Amino acid sequence: TQMSTVIKNGTIVTADLTYKADVLIEGGKITQIGQDLSGAEVLDATGCFVMPGGIDPHTHLEMPFMGTYSTDDFESGTRAALSGGTTMVVDFALPSPGQGLLDALKMWDNKAGRANCDYSYHMAVTWWGEQVFDEMKTVVQDRGINTFKHFMAYKGALMVQDDEMFASFQRLAELGAIAMVHAENGDVVADLSARLLAEGNTGPEAHAYSRPPQVEGEATNRAIMIADMAGVPLYVVHTSCEESHEAIRRARQQGKRVWGEPLIQHLTLDESEYFNQDWDHAARRVMSPPFRNKQHQDSLWAGLMSGSLSVVATDHCAFTTEQKRYGVGDFTKIPNGTGGLEDRMPMLWTYGVGTGRLTPNEFVAVTSTNIAKILNCYPKKGAVLVGADADLVVWDPEKTKTITAGTQQSAIDYNVFEGKEVKGLPRFTLTRGYVAVHDGEVRTKEGHGEFVAREANTSVNKALSSWKELTNPRPVERSGIPASGV
Ligand code: URP
Ligand code: ZN
Ligand code: ZN
Ligand code: ZN
Repeated sequence: TQMSTVIKNGTIVTADLTYKADVLIEGGKITQIGQDLSGAEVLDATGCFVMPGGIDPHTHLEMPFMGTYSTDDFESGTRAALSGGTTMVVDFALPSPGQGLLDALKMWDNKAGRANCDYSYHMAVTWWGEQVFDEMKTVVQDRGINTFKHFMAYKGALMVQDDEMFASFQRLAELGAIAMVHAENGDVVADLSARLLAEGNTGPEAHAYSRPPQVEGEATNRAIMIADMAGVPLYVVHTSCEESHEAIRRARQQGKRVWGEPLIQHLTLDESEYFNQDWDHAARRVMSPPFRNKQHQDSLWAGLMSGSLSVVATDHCAFTTEQKRYGVGDFTKIPNGTGGLEDRMPMLWTYGVGTGRLTPNEFVAVTSTNIAKILNCYPKKGAVLVGADADLVVWDPEKTKTITAGTQQSAIDYNVFEGKEVKGLPRFTLTRGYVAVHDGEVRTKEGHGEFVAREANTSVNKALSSWKELTNPRPVERSGIPASGV
């Protein structure tokens, strides 16, 4: 018989409801929600909110990138996640150009065996060919991966061309999967980078100058139009600026199935982190897209508040100071990426709920429920419902701490949020019923995490233009084009 756990005296907060009830957990699942429940282990949630654990849909754990590997792996990364109230991560399985998708998944399965919490993958499409086309079907239908990311940047490495992206998007539409893009114009970035270097701008601040908001806005618009022509839904990762947000907002108003994902870093840190700073400080914050000014930050917050942006992620891709120093003398060699897995929930609570920009229910929506629905793993994840996985966080809104690298779970030697005061932290974090954080003490179990398969969802995965064609069939317009000279 499986031990039962009951969470007592708390207030349940989901994306749509707030109410007082106890939660009974048996066999890793929620089996009862009600009054005066009892169980073998009792977790006291007095004064706390009982919420679905966070889902971080954007991590890069132990990823080979820019001549090295990101330092947090599935063990330290998921330990950091749980410590901060996140109970599921979605990592990018990344084939090196030329490598098969299934081969890359094997590598990712090996790394993910150490995970402390549940996880899933997005598949990256880093090159295009018959093998990729063929294996996509197996990835979707046999492996339960329904999201595929395309890099429009990192020219000469991971970047795909528009024709490749269009072909891939059409294949995904056929399979009922979702396209994702890293939206930056890689050609323009490469050109600006070369010019900055030639002019002697070798420091980390030049990284920001090489990737202005326009390169992101252009690529976001381009991806939206290509997705619309392919009839595939589009998820834009790490939306950092108004230009990109504007494109997403417009697409959504037109009925296109497009989502935007701001990162907690872009919501709370700005470009001043790059300018008039010492080299290490700035380089530690080099990521793509770079941090922006306050106006862009305001735009991202407005998007979360109004619903034009759907999900807050981290893009956790952590490099040590030593790794960042590969780029001394050439900013283009600084490994791109920042951490945030442990801090996303407390930072968003502090700067979102604590300021009145988000309600607690909206907090749950943008940290968990929305993405569970988009990825098609709701209500297994992202819910407090009977039958759902007991991935829960008992959130103490009065608990405070000062973020510092000295006490973090991440394996790197600094924290981009160093010195920030947060109010709102987990008292308990449960991963399928296992209490991984107990009164703030981290007791993770390596290898506890399981893969979460996510089926394709063909019935809803259509963009606006496709709906129009389906509901209002019309003759092929090409036949009506007058011949020249008429
Ligand atoms: O700079 C970043 N974002 N590094 C991680 C890889 C990516 O582009 O998402
Ligand atoms: Zn206990
Ligand atoms: Zn990216
Ligand atoms: Zn990323």
